[in-house]
Amino acid sequence: MVHNFNAGPSILPREVYEEAAQAILNYKETGLSILEIGHRTTLIESMVDETVNLVKDLMKLDADHEVVFLHGGATTQFFQVPMNLLNENQTAAYLDCGVWGTKAIKEARLFGNVDVVASSKDENYTYIPKDYKIPGDAAYFHYTTNNTIEGTEMFSIPETNIPLVADMSSDILSHEMDFNRFALIYAGAQKNIGATGVNMVVVRKDILGKVNRKLPGMMDYRQHIENRSMLNTPPVFAIYVCLLTLRWLKKLGGVSAIEKINIEKAHLLYKTLDAREGFEPTVAVEDRSRMNVVFLIKDPALEKKFQDACREQKMIGVKGHRSVGGYRVSLYNALPLDSVKALTSLINQL
Ligand SMILES: Cc1ncc(COP(=O)(O)O)c(C=O)c1O
Repeated sequence: MVHNFNAGPSILPREVYEEAAQAILNYKETGLSILEIGHRTTLIESMVDETVNLVKDLMKLDADHEVVFLHGGATTQFFQVPMNLLNENQTAAYLDCGVWGTKAIKEARLFGNVDVVASSKDENYTYIPKDYKIPGDAAYFHYTTNNTIEGTEMFSIPETNIPLVADMSSDILSHEMDFNRFALIYAGAQKNIGATGVNMVVVRKDILGKVNRKLPGMMDYRQHIENRSMLNTPPVFAIYVCLLTLRWLKKLGGVSAIEKINIEKAHLLYKTLDAREGFEPTVAVEDRSRMNVVFLIKDPALEKKFQDACREQKMIGVKGHRSVGGYRVSLYNALPLDSVKALTSLINQL
């Protein structure tokens, strides 16, 4: 058995692969592959609508929030967000907690002013800043809920009256939170939601239509909402994989059920790393991510033993991001507890 700790694209539930494979051969007994059916058919429109409704259900969204599936990855959201929400003479507030947040800041500066209210760059992004003020007159406040590369995660939602915007690419639907407190949430699908090639945006409709610049249609969230994610040809298959993954999550008991499992997985791994000499988690204890566990092994002999054992026991994707080094073990929703047990037993036996 392969244990897949990839950081993204990453593991999805086995039943999702099986159903997705079947849909490529024969979608819903039509005799057609899902890859060859027009998107403006009842078959596909109802599939996309079901996906949107399942997101609303799992996130317990109120009627003010809408869900759309878009192209371009979370990276497109780095500029689509300020394009839609920030006038040139306005300021948006950003929290700088890692590589992805830094990229979002850079893109926002193309459209208006950016006030970086706090940064953990001084300590290589190994903690989440706590003492900062969010200016009450900023257009919005943006932060990354889980820093995929550095392995920090924010579990509480910052207090502010201005619109909250979050990049939840790597921890969406992994623990309960009041998603209705956000004006806009975006997430690339390829970790907790589904397959690469689509990203999901949740937006509170009243924040849209307030900037004075002209927006290309594809960049305008309102047009995507009006066209129910079908402004142009959507990534049908990628959305279908999202639907299957969300159905799996719903069947499991939803976000509260997966949160319990995620806590157990992360607790077991951090406990093992803390107890085992030579393994050094890099992140401040209170900010440790449940999705991406980052650690160093400084002794070259131990490091070699660990690498060899991972290879032998088919532990895939444990290498750290090139900008951080060391190791990163990703524990997304679909990763079974058994894989974490296998890894911790490997570590204990070294
Ligand atoms: C937190 C976060 N934001 C943004 C991105 C970029 O996503 P994409 O490759 O879909 O543009 C990633 C990718 O890993 C991520 O983890």
